[in-house]
Amino acid sequence: MYTFSLLSFVLLMLYKASVGNELPCDIKKCHFGDSVCLMNTINDLIGHYPNGISEIGLAPLDVTRLQDISIVDGSKSDPVWLSFHIKNLKNKGFNNATITRVKGFNKDPSKSSMIIKAHIPRLIHKGIYNMQSRVLLFVANATGNFRSEFLNFRLKMRIKGIQEYRNNKRYLRIYELKPKVELQRWVTWLDSLYKENTDLTIALNNIINENWLEFWQDLEPGMLKTFELCLMSILKKVFDNVAYDDLFLPDEA
Ligand SMILES: *[C@@H]1O[C@H](CO)[C@@H](O)[C@H](O)[C@H]1NC(C)=O
Ligand SMILES: *[C@@H]1O[C@H](CO)[C@@H](O)[C@H](O)[C@H]1NC(C)=O
Repeated sequence: MYTFSLLSFVLLMLYKASVGNELPCDIKKCHFGDSVCLMNTINDLIGHYPNGISEIGLAPLDVTRLQDISIVDGSKSDPVWLSFHIKNLKNKGFNNATITRVKGFNKDPSKSSMIIKAHIPRLIHKGIYNMQSRVLLFVANATGNFRSEFLNFRLKMRIKGIQEYRNNKRYLRIYELKPKVELQRWVTWLDSLYKENTDLTIALNNIINENWLEFWQDLEPGMLKTFELCLMSILKKVFDNVAYDDLFLPDEA
């Protein structure tokens, strides 16, 4: 009995592997490198399946969760330093993305990088922060919930990948994803910056928001890392699940 069920399990896995996972049939496939078709297809996928498609490894797009991450890690020997870490990050809003440009995704995806541009009206980050800073003798150590909103968020990601063969099928393995972003405004709120003084917490949050551009410029590299990890976690799962050729129409040539 045991061997039978194990055997049927193995056979089922083999069957699944040979059939492969496919895009749902209401999603139009495109020819390799057909930028306009790919842009429309990805927009259809986002519009019709905001909650993801588990069969092809597409995660829900409304909320993306991340592990702990350091946004800034200052050198503690400097007279002025700042460390900013976040935990339990929830990224919300990819479900409202509109793809505005797609480039690449040719027959051989390893030959040139792929580009996807998107517009997201509002992206929200929520989580727990820990900020430690020192300005000369003044040391601060604050922890609490935070919330950030990135308004009119424009994203350009450059993706590099290589092809990998599994079960005689080609899969795309992404080894680099570089996001670039532009935004109209960044609104952020850090709870309990001063645990013992709410007025001071409000005042400091107001200063941050009035001068958001300067803070953004300092924190941008670390923030880009959070976007990179969120996007990578979504794309990697899809390309791991669906063979590259199964995402496109068969080549006529
Ligand atoms: C995404 O759009 C829906 C519908 O318009 C809206 O209810 C939701 O708040 C939006 N998400 C974000 C993060 O703005
Ligand atoms: C910062 O505060 C937290 C508790 O709020 C504490 O656990 C941590 O040890 C403190 N870190 C430093 C460097 O003081």
